[in-house]
Amino acid sequence: MDKKNLPIAFFDSGVGGISVLREAVKLLPYEDYLFFGDSANAPYGTKTLQEIRQLTLTHAHRLYETGIKALVIACNTATSAAINDLRSIYTDIPVIGIEPALKPAALMSPHPTVIVMATPLTVREKKFHDLLGHYADKADVIPLACPGLMEFVEQGRTDDAEVISCLSDLLSPYLSSRTVDAIVLGCTHYPFVEPAVRKLAGNHVRIFDGGPGTARELRRRLTENGLLHGCGNPGTVTFKNSLPEKIELSERLLQASL
Ligand code: DGL
Repeated sequence: MDKKNLPIAFFDSGVGGISVLREAVKLLPYEDYLFFGDSANAPYGTKTLQEIRQLTLTHAHRLYETGIKALVIACNTATSAAINDLRSIYTDIPVIGIEPALKPAALMSPHPTVIVMATPLTVREKKFHDLLGHYADKADVIPLACPGLMEFVEQGRTDDAEVISCLSDLLSPYLSSRTVDAIVLGCTHYPFVEPAVRKLAGNHVRIFDGGPGTARELRRRLTENGLLHGCGNPGTVTFKNSLPEKIELSERLLQASL
């Protein structure tokens, strides 16, 4: 089989990675996609590095075995924990990770104040500290661990009163005490609560999401490896999940954002 015709696999701890998948589907509509969410083991962000690495390697191996032409780790947490291992294991396909979109936020104006919302693991890990170090002289960065937030999205809840109250508890101490210029959604579940974040932050705050940049990186890597599918019929999206009852929600989240 021509390798170009194989699907692109996406992996996340749950349904959040669909915020990255949707950007890929918009940019590369002729590709076939296989999305696996590990909702049975979610959240990853409050687990140990070792647990997350083990889960990510196990699921990546299963996806690879099905025959894929690229692997996208559509999870900031799993990327921090396992991207180096995955790249050294799967040298014959592009392996793409995601990190909080701090770069465009830090460079958007002279010395902006930027909140980076992410999981406890992401803000704790070396990968994030290296990223912070890179932009330390360009922006005031406030890392904000948001335990409990992804669970709402896993339940398909994106802007009810409890979601707003959780976001308000997290963000209000910063929004009320200083001028915040930007918020980075550094977990792939959070773009689904972006309208609620917007309501609290107001229109003057810019919101950044790593999904579009990750989709462009996927296109770049497929192009450079001669793996891009040519024009033709629109591709397919297949959802799999360690909690099968999440498939319907997955389809809904994708359809709502295309
Ligand atoms: N979607 C994941 C991320 O981008 C993490 C959510 C979780 O499992 O805690 O970090």
